[in-house]
Amino acid sequence: MRFSHKVAKLAQPLTYRRAWRRAQRVIHPIPLEPLYAKIDQLRLSEIQASQATSDAHYAKYADVKRWLRLNIVRAQDLKLHRTRPLSLLDLGCGGGFFLFVLQHLGHTGLGLDIDEFPLFTELLDLFQVERRIWTIRPNEPLPDLGRKFDLITAFSIDFNRESKRDWWWGPPEWAFFLDDMRRHLNPGGRIFLGLNPGKNKEYYSPELHEFFLNRGATIERENVLFTFD
Ligand SMILES: C[S@@+](CC[C@H](N)C(=O)[O-])C[C@H]1O[C@@H](n2cnc3c(N)ncnc32)[C@H](O)[C@@H]1O
Repeated sequence: MRFSHKVAKLAQPLTYRRAWRRAQRVIHPIPLEPLYAKIDQLRLSEIQASQATSDAHYAKYADVKRWLRLNIVRAQDLKLHRTRPLSLLDLGCGGGFFLFVLQHLGHTGLGLDIDEFPLFTELLDLFQVERRIWTIRPNEPLPDLGRKFDLITAFSIDFNRESKRDWWWGPPEWAFFLDDMRRHLNPGGRIFLGLNPGKNKEYYSPELHEFFLNRGATIERENVLFTFD
């Protein structure tokens, strides 16, 4: 890329914000090794051996270092290593990588997910992370979780669609969901959504984008953040 092009790109707010975040990650690192050292290596090798020849859905999550690295970045971008201890809820928590990272940082976390993938259950046990088994459905509230949260996250979201009929939540379903999530938030809480792209490679329709903005979201590609005062 030509230098002048690089400079022009840096002048764009999105490029600037990304460069700033990258710099912040370097200035305020979360080292992987102390985190990795907490893991029972014998049990991890057993899990990895059982997945080595598996073609199970989500077998890729046995590559623990790779997913810890990604979740360290998520924690850094949400500044979870530079804040007081928080109470967090991670929706669709999968193997619990994000919760493991944030527990290491001194926060308390609860995961919520369906119970369909044995690898996720094995990883959650390995990481000693708490999960509530629950299926998120459109226009259905979450159960009482016994506590409120400062931050609700959902990364690589998969609960907002019915793949069989290629149907995705629109503004009415998201409105219900966000209103319901607010019941579970402490004052000043935040909701972070990491959306998955649809078949057309878009993260949201123009209507949904507009809806999130009207609800006060900060949107950066797949990342949608709501901060409530
Ligand atoms: C792509 S994985 C992402 C896992 C994790 N959030 C991450 O980023 O590593 C999607 C997760 O959503 C969960 N999930 C799918 N449908 C769900 C539903 N209706 N309710 C709750 N969780 C669901 C899956 O079990 C899986 O753990």
